[in-house]
Amino acid sequence: MHTISVSNWQGPFADADKSAALGALERGKVLYFPNLAFVPEQSCQDLFSSRLADRKTKNVSYNPATVAVKGTLASERERPVLQAMMAAFSATAAGFVLDLLPRYAGHIERARASYRPVEIAGREYSPLKDDKRLHVDAFPSTPTRGRRILRLFCNVNPAGQPRLWHIGEPFEALAEKFLPALGRPMAPIAYLLAAFGATRGRRSAYDQLMLGLHNNVKRDAAYQASACYEELAFPAGSTWLCFTDQVVHAAIAGQYALEQTFYLDIAAMADPASSPLRILERMTKRTLC
Ligand code: SIN
Ligand code: FE
Repeated sequence: MHTISVSNWQGPFADADKSAALGALERGKVLYFPNLAFVPEQSCQDLFSSRLADRKTKNVSYNPATVAVKGTLASERERPVLQAMMAAFSATAAGFVLDLLPRYAGHIERARASYRPVEIAGREYSPLKDDKRLHVDAFPSTPTRGRRILRLFCNVNPAGQPRLWHIGEPFEALAEKFLPALGRPMAPIAYLLAAFGATRGRRSAYDQLMLGLHNNVKRDAAYQASACYEELAFPAGSTWLCFTDQVVHAAIAGQYALEQTFYLDIAAMADPASSPLRILERMTKRTLC
Protein backbone atom coordinates (compact mmCIF):
# COMPACT_ATOMS: atom_id res chain seq x y z
CA MET A 1 0.00 0.00 0.00
CA HIS A 2 1.18 3.49 -0.77
CA THR A 3 -0.27 6.35 1.26
CA ILE A 4 -0.77 9.82 -0.22
CA SER A 5 -1.94 12.57 2.07
CA VAL A 6 -3.83 14.80 -0.40
CA SER A 7 -7.12 16.10 0.97
CA ASN A 8 -8.56 17.76 -2.15
CA TRP A 9 -10.41 16.15 -5.02
CA GLN A 10 -9.08 18.80 -7.38
CA GLY A 11 -5.46 19.42 -8.36
CA PRO A 12 -3.03 20.83 -9.03
CA PHE A 13 -1.16 18.15 -7.06
CA ALA A 14 2.55 18.24 -6.19
CA ASP A 15 4.80 16.66 -8.84
CA ALA A 16 6.23 14.37 -6.16
CA ASP A 17 2.73 13.04 -5.32
CA LYS A 18 1.88 12.56 -9.00
CA SER A 19 5.02 10.62 -9.88
CA ALA A 20 4.86 8.53 -6.69
CA ALA A 21 1.21 7.73 -7.44
CA LEU A 22 1.96 6.64 -11.00
CA GLY A 23 4.91 4.48 -10.01
CA ALA A 24 3.21 2.75 -7.08
CA LEU A 25 -0.02 2.15 -8.99
CA GLU A 26 1.75 0.53 -11.94
CA ARG A 27 3.87 -1.60 -9.60
CA GLY A 28 0.62 -3.11 -8.34
CA LYS A 29 0.20 -1.16 -5.11
CA VAL A 30 -3.04 0.14 -3.65
CA LEU A 31 -2.95 3.94 -3.42
CA TYR A 32 -4.51 4.95 -0.14
CA PHE A 33 -5.82 8.46 0.55
CA PRO A 34 -6.67 8.60 4.28
CA ASN A 35 -7.57 12.31 4.13
CA LEU A 36 -9.72 12.26 1.03
CA ALA A 37 -13.42 11.83 1.76
CA PHE A 38 -16.39 11.89 -0.57
CA VAL A 39 -19.19 13.38 1.52
CA PRO A 40 -22.71 12.84 0.16
CA GLU A 41 -25.09 15.78 0.58
CA GLN A 42 -27.36 15.98 3.61
CA SER A 43 -30.33 15.03 1.37
CA CYS A 44 -28.72 11.58 0.81
CA GLN A 45 -29.36 10.29 4.37
CA ASP A 46 -32.20 8.00 3.23
CA LEU A 47 -29.86 6.30 0.75
CA PHE A 48 -27.94 4.59 3.55
CA SER A 49 -30.05 1.46 3.59
CA SER A 50 -29.44 -1.99 2.13
CA ARG A 51 -33.06 -1.92 0.97
CA LEU A 52 -31.89 0.23 -1.94
CA ALA A 53 -30.10 -2.68 -3.62
CA ASP A 54 -31.89 -5.01 -5.95
CA ARG A 55 -31.50 -8.45 -4.32
CA LYS A 56 -30.17 -9.97 -7.55
CA THR A 57 -27.46 -7.41 -8.31
CA LYS A 58 -26.00 -6.45 -4.87
CA ASN A 59 -24.67 -3.15 -6.36
CA VAL A 60 -26.45 -0.14 -7.81
CA SER A 61 -24.82 0.92 -11.09
CA TYR A 62 -24.53 4.32 -12.74
CA ASN A 63 -23.61 4.75 -16.39
CA PRO A 64 -22.03 8.19 -16.93
CA ALA A 65 -22.68 7.99 -20.70
CA THR A 66 -26.47 7.69 -20.29
CA VAL A 67 -26.77 8.94 -16.66
CA ALA A 68 -28.97 5.87 -16.05
CA VAL A 69 -29.10 4.23 -12.61
CA LYS A 70 -29.77 0.47 -12.55
CA GLY A 71 -30.10 -2.32 -10.02
CA THR A 72 -31.98 -0.45 -7.33
CA LEU A 73 -35.29 -0.74 -5.52
CA ALA A 74 -35.16 2.95 -4.54
CA SER A 75 -38.55 4.66 -4.38
CA GLU A 76 -39.66 7.26 -6.93
CA ARG A 77 -38.72 9.95 -4.42
CA GLU A 78 -35.28 8.46 -3.68
CA ARG A 79 -34.27 7.80 -7.28
CA PRO A 80 -33.31 11.33 -8.32
CA VAL A 81 -31.36 11.78 -5.06
CA LEU A 82 -29.49 8.54 -5.70
CA GLN A 83 -28.82 9.52 -9.29
CA ALA A 84 -27.50 12.93 -8.26
CA MET A 85 -25.19 11.40 -5.64
CA MET A 86 -23.77 8.90 -8.13
CA ALA A 87 -23.38 11.52 -10.87
CA ALA A 88 -21.52 13.83 -8.49
CA PHE A 89 -19.30 11.01 -7.26
CA SER A 90 -18.55 9.78 -10.78
CA ALA A 91 -17.56 13.25 -12.03
CA THR A 92 -15.48 13.92 -8.90
CA ALA A 93 -13.64 10.60 -9.23
CA ALA A 94 -12.93 11.18 -12.94
CA GLY A 95 -11.58 14.69 -12.36
CA PHE A 96 -9.37 13.43 -9.53
CA VAL A 97 -7.84 10.58 -11.53
CA LEU A 98 -7.01 12.92 -14.43
CA ASP A 99 -5.47 15.54 -12.12
CA LEU A 100 -3.42 12.94 -10.26
CA LEU A 101 -2.44 10.89 -13.34
CA PRO A 102 -2.28 13.41 -16.19
CA ARG A 103 -0.22 10.95 -18.24
CA TYR A 104 -3.39 8.88 -18.76
CA ALA A 105 -5.43 11.74 -20.27
CA GLY A 106 -6.93 10.84 -23.63
CA HIS A 107 -6.32 7.10 -23.03
CA ILE A 108 -8.68 6.46 -20.16
CA GLU A 109 -12.39 5.73 -20.39
CA ARG A 110 -14.76 6.49 -17.53
CA ALA A 111 -16.98 3.40 -17.34
CA ARG A 112 -19.65 2.59 -14.76
CA ALA A 113 -19.78 3.68 -11.16
CA SER A 114 -21.39 1.62 -8.43
CA TYR A 115 -22.98 2.17 -5.04
CA ARG A 116 -22.58 -0.77 -2.66
CA PRO A 117 -25.17 -0.53 0.11
CA VAL A 118 -25.13 -4.18 1.27
CA GLU A 119 -22.95 -5.45 4.14
CA ILE A 120 -20.30 -7.79 2.71
CA ALA A 121 -19.74 -9.93 5.82
CA GLY A 122 -22.15 -12.85 6.00
CA ARG A 123 -23.34 -12.44 2.41
CA GLU A 124 -23.55 -15.82 0.66
CA TYR A 125 -22.84 -16.11 -3.05
CA SER A 126 -21.72 -18.79 -5.47
CA PRO A 127 -17.90 -19.06 -5.40
CA LEU A 128 -17.46 -17.17 -8.68
CA LYS A 129 -19.55 -14.19 -7.49
CA ASP A 130 -18.04 -14.19 -4.02
CA ASP A 131 -15.65 -11.23 -3.74
CA LYS A 132 -14.77 -12.35 -0.20
CA ARG A 133 -12.45 -14.77 -1.99
CA LEU A 134 -9.09 -13.55 -3.29
CA HIS A 135 -9.19 -12.75 -7.01
CA VAL A 136 -8.16 -10.38 -9.78
CA ASP A 137 -11.02 -8.63 -11.58
CA ALA A 138 -12.16 -9.89 -14.99
CA PHE A 139 -15.69 -9.26 -16.23
CA PRO A 140 -17.44 -12.12 -18.10
CA SER A 141 -19.60 -9.84 -20.25
CA THR A 142 -17.15 -6.96 -20.80
CA PRO A 143 -13.87 -8.05 -22.41
CA THR A 144 -11.14 -5.40 -22.04
CA ARG A 145 -8.89 -6.72 -24.83
CA GLY A 146 -5.79 -5.79 -22.87
CA ARG A 147 -6.99 -2.53 -21.38
CA ARG A 148 -6.39 -2.09 -17.67
CA ILE A 149 -9.15 -2.01 -15.06
CA LEU A 150 -8.54 0.91 -12.69
CA ARG A 151 -10.97 1.44 -9.80
CA LEU A 152 -11.44 4.16 -7.24
CA PHE A 153 -13.30 3.35 -4.01
CA CYS A 154 -14.69 5.62 -1.28
CA ASN A 155 -15.92 4.31 2.03
CA VAL A 156 -18.98 6.49 2.74
CA ASN A 157 -20.23 4.53 5.76
CA PRO A 158 -22.16 7.01 7.96
CA ALA A 159 -21.59 4.97 11.16
CA GLY A 160 -17.81 5.01 10.83
CA GLN A 161 -17.45 1.33 9.92
CA PRO A 162 -14.23 0.51 7.99
CA ARG A 163 -14.15 -1.53 4.77
CA LEU A 164 -11.90 -4.54 5.15
CA TRP A 165 -9.84 -5.93 2.27
CA HIS A 166 -7.28 -8.69 1.98
CA ILE A 167 -4.42 -8.14 -0.47
CA GLY A 168 -2.70 -11.27 -1.77
CA GLU A 169 0.55 -12.08 -3.53
CA PRO A 170 1.91 -10.23 -6.60
CA PHE A 171 0.11 -10.89 -9.89
CA GLU A 172 3.04 -12.72 -11.47
CA ALA A 173 3.31 -15.18 -8.58
CA LEU A 174 -0.42 -15.91 -8.79
CA ALA A 175 -0.23 -16.38 -12.55
CA GLU A 176 2.69 -18.79 -12.19
CA LYS A 177 0.57 -21.01 -9.95
CA PHE A 178 -2.61 -20.96 -12.03
CA LEU A 179 -1.57 -20.46 -15.65
CA PRO A 180 -0.33 -24.02 -16.33
CA ALA A 181 -3.80 -25.51 -15.71
CA LEU A 182 -5.65 -22.93 -17.81
CA GLY A 183 -4.93 -24.40 -21.24
CA ARG A 184 -5.00 -22.52 -24.51
CA PRO A 185 -7.70 -19.91 -25.12
CA MET A 186 -10.35 -21.00 -27.62
CA ALA A 187 -11.12 -18.52 -30.40
CA PRO A 188 -14.35 -20.27 -31.59
CA ILE A 189 -15.92 -19.95 -28.11
CA ALA A 190 -15.12 -16.22 -27.98
CA TYR A 191 -16.66 -15.82 -31.43
CA LEU A 192 -19.89 -17.59 -30.42
CA LEU A 193 -20.27 -15.64 -27.15
CA ALA A 194 -19.98 -12.35 -29.07
CA ALA A 195 -22.27 -13.54 -31.87
CA PHE A 196 -25.02 -14.43 -29.37
CA GLY A 197 -24.61 -11.17 -27.46
CA ALA A 198 -23.24 -12.78 -24.30
CA THR A 199 -20.21 -10.48 -24.37
CA ARG A 200 -19.87 -6.84 -25.36
CA GLY A 201 -17.41 -7.41 -28.21
CA ARG A 202 -15.23 -10.44 -28.65
CA ARG A 203 -13.11 -11.90 -25.84
CA SER A 204 -9.45 -11.84 -26.78
CA ALA A 205 -7.11 -14.66 -25.74
CA TYR A 206 -6.08 -12.27 -22.95
CA ASP A 207 -9.68 -11.93 -21.71
CA GLN A 208 -10.10 -15.70 -21.72
CA LEU A 209 -6.95 -16.19 -19.64
CA MET A 210 -7.92 -13.43 -17.18
CA LEU A 211 -11.40 -14.87 -16.73
CA GLY A 212 -9.91 -18.35 -16.29
CA LEU A 213 -7.58 -16.95 -13.67
CA HIS A 214 -10.41 -15.15 -11.85
CA ASN A 215 -12.58 -18.26 -11.86
CA ASN A 216 -9.95 -20.86 -10.96
CA VAL A 217 -8.48 -18.79 -8.14
CA LYS A 218 -11.93 -18.23 -6.60
CA ARG A 219 -12.86 -21.92 -7.00
CA ASP A 220 -9.65 -23.20 -5.41
CA ALA A 221 -10.65 -23.73 -1.79
CA ALA A 222 -7.17 -24.97 -0.82
CA TYR A 223 -5.58 -21.83 -2.26
CA GLN A 224 -8.15 -19.59 -0.56
CA ALA A 225 -7.50 -21.26 2.79
CA SER A 226 -3.70 -21.15 2.64
CA ALA A 227 -2.80 -18.04 0.60
CA CYS A 228 -0.81 -15.29 2.32
CA TYR A 229 -2.46 -11.91 2.51
CA GLU A 230 -2.20 -8.53 4.11
CA GLU A 231 -5.31 -7.09 5.81
CA LEU A 232 -6.20 -3.47 5.05
CA ALA A 233 -8.95 -1.58 6.85
CA PHE A 234 -10.10 1.49 4.95
CA PRO A 235 -11.77 3.84 7.43
CA ALA A 236 -15.03 5.61 6.71
CA GLY A 237 -14.19 8.85 4.95
CA SER A 238 -11.18 7.43 3.08
CA THR A 239 -10.47 6.70 -0.58
CA TRP A 240 -8.31 4.15 -2.38
CA LEU A 241 -7.34 3.46 -5.99
CA CYS A 242 -5.78 0.44 -7.68
CA PHE A 243 -5.57 -1.69 -10.81
CA THR A 244 -7.95 -4.46 -9.74
CA ASP A 245 -6.93 -6.61 -12.72
CA GLN A 246 -3.48 -6.87 -11.08
CA VAL A 247 -3.93 -6.41 -7.33
CA VAL A 248 -5.02 -9.74 -5.83
CA HIS A 249 -7.83 -8.67 -3.51
CA ALA A 250 -10.82 -9.79 -1.49
CA ALA A 251 -13.46 -7.59 0.14
CA ILE A 252 -14.19 -9.11 3.55
CA ALA A 253 -16.47 -6.70 5.40
CA GLY A 254 -18.00 -3.26 5.16
CA GLN A 255 -21.14 -1.48 3.99
CA TYR A 256 -21.74 1.63 1.88
CA ALA A 257 -19.02 2.28 -0.65
CA LEU A 258 -18.94 4.18 -3.91
CA GLU A 259 -16.76 2.90 -6.74
CA GLN A 260 -15.78 4.25 -10.15
CA THR A 261 -14.30 2.00 -12.86
CA PHE A 262 -11.94 3.21 -15.60
CA TYR A 263 -10.43 1.41 -18.57
CA LEU A 264 -6.91 2.42 -19.53
CA ASP A 265 -4.98 1.71 -22.74
CA ILE A 266 -1.69 0.11 -21.79
CA ALA A 267 0.13 2.31 -24.31
CA ALA A 268 -0.45 5.22 -21.91
CA MET A 269 1.27 3.46 -19.00
CA ALA A 270 4.73 4.59 -17.91
CA ASP A 271 5.65 0.90 -17.73
CA PRO A 272 3.41 -1.22 -19.99
CA ALA A 273 5.66 -4.23 -19.23
CA SER A 274 4.10 -4.36 -15.75
CA SER A 275 0.57 -4.89 -17.16
CA PRO A 276 -1.14 -8.29 -16.82
CA LEU A 277 -1.28 -8.47 -20.65
CA ARG A 278 2.48 -8.16 -21.05
CA ILE A 279 3.17 -10.42 -18.05
CA LEU A 280 0.92 -13.16 -19.44
CA GLU A 281 2.45 -12.73 -22.91
CA ARG A 282 5.92 -13.21 -21.48
CA MET A 283 4.78 -16.29 -19.57
CA THR A 284 2.91 -17.92 -22.48
CA LYS A 285 5.35 -16.68 -25.17
CA ARG A 286 2.31 -15.73 -27.28
CA THR A 287 0.57 -12.58 -28.48
CA LEU A 288 -2.69 -12.53 -26.53
CA CYS A 289 -4.44 -9.53 -28.02
C1 SIN B 1 -14.21 -6.32 -5.40
O1 SIN B 1 -13.87 -5.68 -6.40
O2 SIN B 1 -13.78 -7.46 -5.28
C2 SIN B 1 -15.14 -5.74 -4.35
C3 SIN B 1 -14.55 -4.57 -3.70
C4 SIN B 1 -15.45 -3.88 -2.69
O3 SIN B 1 -16.67 -3.89 -2.84
O4 SIN B 1 -14.92 -3.31 -1.73
FE1 FE C 1 -12.81 -7.50 -7.32
